Amino acid sequence: MRIAFAISAIAALAACAVAPTEPVASMAAPAAPAAAAAPKTLEITEASFGCIRDMTAVRGFYVSNLLGNIDATVAAANAGEGAKYPVGSVVQLVPGEAMVKHPAGYDAATNDWEFFELDVKPGQPAKIRVRGTTEVVNQFGGNCLSCHAPAAQKWDMICEQTHGCLPIPITPVMSRAIQKTDPRCAPTALADDEKAALAQLAAFLGAARPAAGQ
Ligand code: HEC
Repeated sequence: MRIAFAISAIAALAACAVAPTEPVASMAAPAAPAAAAAPKTLEITEASFGCIRDMTAVRGFYVSNLLGNIDATVAAANAGEGAKYPVGSVVQLVPGEAMVKHPAGYDAATNDWEFFELDVKPGQPAKIRVRGTTEVVNQFGGNCLSCHAPAAQKWDMICEQTHGCLPIPITPVMSRAIQKTDPRCAPTALADDEKAALAQLAAFLGAARPAAGQ
């Protein structure tokens, strides 16, 4: 009896040591206010996506948070050793692709991210071309999760250039030029290297889609 008590006491202490800032309410069953306030589902519609440059820039990509929790999203993006992104986070490198973080339990295989491919046109809300988790493939036939998964553990699937993801043929200057030419945003001037990057990209896309006749 005594030993069993000692072990459970140590286990309790150990749990506290691991999570010293865990609010007491969450240990005290049934109705923790924080848990009650957290949404169980997140509704994402075409209205959730606007001009990419209205989001918050972090290095080469943009973030926002559909629940207003932008500080926590930016903190995760800036965590030097990686971090889990909070619920509601939206991450975009280019206007046509996005990742959005759902509440825990949405899909463990994607760390609860939903992947989107979007059609963006001037003066119109984005159209969702495809959305989902493990099965989402972009217009070039690439599965989002397959490429992003190597960054799953440490970086919560955010690739950037150094997190081990499968590479894309889009250079950082190309991404910047694509961001600057989001047709939903007010026009902005392109630097010469960005113009050259767009020309290169157009040539690359033309070569990649000969059958489409574009
Ligand atoms: C061929 C591999 C590949 C595929 C397929 C792919 N990605 Fe990525 N993605 C990358 C890489 C690599 C980066 C980082 C590029 C950079 O920072 O220059 C990236 C960047 C991103 C970013 C910016 C945040 C980050 O991870 O750096 C988002 C958001 C994103 N991709 C979403 C998607 C979505 C949504 C799909 C599917 C519709 C998709 N990607 C398909 C490899 C891929």
